[in-house]
Amino acid sequence: MNSILSISLLLLLSVCSAQTLVEVLRQNSATTLLQLAKTDSQLFKSLSTFKGTVFAPTNDAFSAALKDGDRFTQDSTTDRVLKYHLIPDTVFERDAGFDGAEFLVSLNGSDVKVSGTANGIVVSSAWDAPQANVVKTSAFTGGVVHFIDQTLTPPLGIVEVAKAAGLTSLVSAVVQAGLARTIINLKDATVFAPSNEAIAQISSLVNTLSKEQLAQVLLLHVVPNQRLHSTDFATSALLTSSTEARVQVQKDAKGVAVSGPGNDVAARVVTADVLASVGIVMHVVDKVLLPAGMLGGMEPASEPSADVTTMKGTLRVGKLAAAAVEGEGAAGGASLIAVLKENKATTLLSLVQSDKPILNALADFKGTLFAPTDKALAASVAAGFNAKNLTLLSTVLKYHAIPTTVFAEKSFTGTQFLKSLEGDEVKASGSSAKGITITSAFGANTANVVSSKAFSGGIVHFIDATLTPPTDIVTVAKQAKLTALLNAIMSAGLVETIVNLKTATVFAPSDQAFAAISATASKLSKEQLKQVLLMHVVPGKLVHSTEAAEAKNLPSVGTAASGQMMISVQSDGTTVLVKGGGNKNPSKVVVADVVVMGPLVVHVIDQVLLPGNLSAGVGSIVVLNVAFWMALFIL
Ligand SMILES: *[C@@H]1O[C@H](CO)[C@@H](O)[C@H](O)[C@H]1NC(C)=O
Ligand SMILES: *[C@@H]1O[C@H](CO)[C@@H](O)[C@H](O)[C@H]1NC(C)=O
Ligand SMILES: *[C@@H]1O[C@H](CO)[C@@H](O)[C@H](O)[C@H]1NC(C)=O
Repeated sequence: MNSILSISLLLLLSVCSAQTLVEVLRQNSATTLLQLAKTDSQLFKSLSTFKGTVFAPTNDAFSAALKDGDRFTQDSTTDRVLKYHLIPDTVFERDAGFDGAEFLVSLNGSDVKVSGTANGIVVSSAWDAPQANVVKTSAFTGGVVHFIDQTLTPPLGIVEVAKAAGLTSLVSAVVQAGLARTIINLKDATVFAPSNEAIAQISSLVNTLSKEQLAQVLLLHVVPNQRLHSTDFATSALLTSSTEARVQVQKDAKGVAVSGPGNDVAARVVTADVLASVGIVMHVVDKVLLPAGMLGGMEPASEPSADVTTMKGTLRVGKLAAAAVEGEGAAGGASLIAVLKENKATTLLSLVQSDKPILNALADFKGTLFAPTDKALAASVAAGFNAKNLTLLSTVLKYHAIPTTVFAEKSFTGTQFLKSLEGDEVKASGSSAKGITITSAFGANTANVVSSKAFSGGIVHFIDATLTPPTDIVTVAKQAKLTALLNAIMSAGLVETIVNLKTATVFAPSDQAFAAISATASKLSKEQLKQVLLMHVVPGKLVHSTEAAEAKNLPSVGTAASGQMMISVQSDGTTVLVKGGGNKNPSKVVVADVVVMGPLVVHVIDQVLLPGNLSAGVGSIVVLNVAFWMALFIL
């Protein structure tokens, strides 16, 4: 309670603080830090605009470090050492009541560990550097300064750290396997580092291995592209090593156990979170991890069961969700996370856990979630979905969430368009024969609802394909090969207008539609072409085929000169017909309801809609003049 109070006090302080970082440092007599920063004008400049958390060594801390020349010298190292004291964009405001551990990514790129202890907050850096105590905390306009009584030391490279940590057998094995270069060049990885005793235990096996086999064994200890700290391990997780083989991690009351496919007894982490440059997290283990079948004659361990399965390189197994995973929903019934867990949506869960904001959003979510199965997500990763890109992941996941509860009853027939949290629509079709299918971006796979489960805040529909958020209209037009339309949009100088459309219905003439009016079109000025094209856009409204019957007359965007023009709409329930003032015969919708970013709904039509004063002669001239639009485009 105390700590919560003081955290909020600090928050209040930082909101109210009108002092810049430099002013706060000055006021707290951090003169050495200021002097050092001033030796590099670039660094000083970045300090004056810095936003985030600053670990500011006191003057005493600096004089001790400067005496010990190994740790700090006042030369070119200043810049990178000081950068290690700056945590951009993260305001770490915990104070004395904090009793966990957190890893923060510094401006240098390497992690800094912050732990709450009985004696207050302690900051750890490189393997053998002294720990620093936070002696005072002050807010500034862009964040928080924690004054510390030791300078921090950026971690060295992995081989230096391994040597310093006494892992001599491992270093020799790496050299023997010809992996020195590979290991030195590692970035952003988790490494399970066997102790000397661990390697001694299997010395007779090691002696029988070829260089390649030894390399296989060693690379099994490396989990690429993930910084997994001890704080990131959940109860159970499968990690994909750099050999593609799975490593299982299990956390229990005694600590963390790790096993390779060939281990009958798991290794235990004896020293966790040894940091190395850049972004390497080493965990020293007491047994060598073994590939399947490596100990000839010994049964390989059966495929471990995991609560959280990882997809290659995508997971930061969270302590994050640990609480939420088991939780009951507020309104009674299982929470969304619990329902996902129960239904083995393990990949989705691990993705959700990869980002705290995403997880938080999901924990509070009310409505309908279309939850792709593990198989569905594996297929989209195989097809190139980069779930490590959190911006993309967040967009994709939001596109699966509908803020209202739909299709809670078993049977749904017909078509419905649902607006997702991402802002765009998904199309749902239901039939008694095929159940519910969901259509997303143009060209993306259709997803089938395979099962549905209620949760406290709504319903989860499990689907057999990942939904793809729609792309912009120009991209869709390219995909749909509406070449003449694209050329016309470019010729009229309307690309920007069209790409930036929000909430609108667009009638998109096919290539044949344009070809049919090429003789008339070739006589149009750029302004007139613009009028014709904008006539196809109905602003502020999503008119799906399902709403066409009631639509009747729709006002188009129009231009300043033309003003709005009306499009008349007719529908008999199956065929939708649209007509402009200048059209003799109505145009037919040949592809209805293409969901496009905006949100837009696009209907492909077989005739160009024409304003009233353009009708003359059009019906009679049918000349196939594809080259004309190409020429327009080139002009
Ligand atoms: C971070 O510090 C390490 C160790 O001193 C150094 O090798 C590296 O170049 C630094 N990185 C940056 C981006 O300053
Ligand atoms: C991540 O995804 C976003 C949205 O799709 C994209 O704009 C961005 O370029 C991607 N970043 C990387 C590094 O691929
Ligand atoms: C049709 O009328 C509009 C507005 O009155 C005018 O700007 C446009 O040039 C006319 N188009 C033709 C082909 O005459």
